[in-house]
Amino acid sequence: MQIREIFKCNVCGNVVELLQAGAPALVCCGQDMEKLEAQTEDAANEKHVPIVKEVNSGIEVTVGSTLHPMEEDHLIRFIEVLTEDKVLRTELEAGQKPIAKFNIDKSEVVEVREFCNVHGLWKV
Ligand SMILES: [Fe+2]
Repeated sequence: MQIREIFKCNVCGNVVELLQAGAPALVCCGQDMEKLEAQTEDAANEKHVPIVKEVNSGIEVTVGSTLHPMEEDHLIRFIEVLTEDKVLRTELEAGQKPIAKFNIDKSEVVEVREFCNVHGLWKV
């Protein structure tokens, strides 16, 4: 296991991010949690791949090419920007737009990812 990996419990729905690696498995509700692999290509009508745009103060991330729904039972829960030594996360709620701004130079960005509570993890 590596830091920054994200795991989901397929029983209760807990989602966790690893901050320090220890034993080779995370257990929740009596079973191993599933390691989420980020998807990178949109196939269906719904768009999940984050779009990164440079703005004055840093970058703006939008999910996705058509704005993703933000309803209680289907929404983007968070958007994260990863650099070499930082994880920046914006938490989102129903009713908000699936857009987040980060005060960071685009050249520092290693990965941008987001988590949809129905369709899982996506990155660019
Ligand atoms: Fe979705």
